[in-house]
Amino acid sequence: MIVVAGATGNVGREVVRLLAEAGQPVRALTRDPATATVPAGATAVAGDLTDPATLRPAFEGATALFLLSGYSPDIFGEASRAGVRRVVLLSGGSAETGDRSNAVAGYMIETEDKLRASGLGWTMVRPRMFMTNALQWAPQVKSGVVRAPWPDVPSAVIDPADIAAVVAKALVSADHEGREYPVTGPEALRPEERVRILAEALGREIRYEAQPDDEARAEMLTQMPEQYVDAFFSFYSDGKLDEATLFPTVLEVTGRPPRTFAEWARANAGRFR
Ligand SMILES: NC(=O)c1ccc[n+]([C@@H]2O[C@H](COP(=O)([O-])OP(=O)(O)OC[C@H]3O[C@@H](n4cnc5c(N)ncnc54)[C@H](OP(=O)(O)O)[C@@H]3O)[C@@H](O)[C@H]2O)c1
Repeated sequence: MIVVAGATGNVGREVVRLLAEAGQPVRALTRDPATATVPAGATAVAGDLTDPATLRPAFEGATALFLLSGYSPDIFGEASRAGVRRVVLLSGGSAETGDRSNAVAGYMIETEDKLRASGLGWTMVRPRMFMTNALQWAPQVKSGVVRAPWPDVPSAVIDPADIAAVVAKALVSADHEGREYPVTGPEALRPEERVRILAEALGREIRYEAQPDDEARAEMLTQMPEQYVDAFFSFYSDGKLDEATLFPTVLEVTGRPPRTFAEWARANAGRFR
């Protein structure tokens, strides 16, 4: 039995689908199984990652776990006691910076450290910027102008479905234990390039405007705590995070190349309309 946390999210949803399609017994963990829709073959189970004791029924009889970073390390103790032997962790590229003073990198590094010390088998999956982050632009796309910060910063954006494909492989085989996987898409794109590709996929004109730092900061402060805003400014304004370097991980682990942003944009065009 494999337990997938974040099973209603961008990555977890695809992990559940891939495992269920492969005939693996899979439990989709969510705080609200009554409203969650899970693929055929999977079972939705209740559990709150902020309250590890609630995870006991989900973990019972499980051998592998997909987990998101930033939650209680007690989860690893609960998993071990239940018989889980392997954890695949959704971390991030920022874990490679080693900068614990950065709030985003810090929670990822901390979770990785606790997992390494847990005695469980582990695989660290470190994706770069998700292609789905572009969905934040949906209201602006409708207006024809996307204002976004950091115009000169390229990111090798990755389709969450490709992250999920790497995760699914690591969940079902011991071959990936002890590995730290940087996961990138096939090309590093600046925001203006991503907007141009999106415009082509949607078949309409969309202009990119560089958003000044002060305007971006004020907007982000309405959406997340200040330490996270500072973390992203450190990554992208101070250049502390390299998301441009490409890695062959998706091809090597799954046997096929990662999807392009154009492919993702065409497949998800309806979500921008
Ligand atoms: N976006 C990026 O560019 C990027 C880059 C690198 C790494 N990451 C990492 O990816 C993570 C997000 O992954 P995602 O996009 O797949 O997720 P997502 O779409 O943001 O969805 C969040 C998931 O977490 C679950 N969740 C939230 N709080 C929970 C709790 N207390 N107990 C149990 N489940 C809880 C939600 O499940 P329910 O609501 O159903 O309970 C949902 O399935 C980030 O937190 C970050 O660490 C993101």
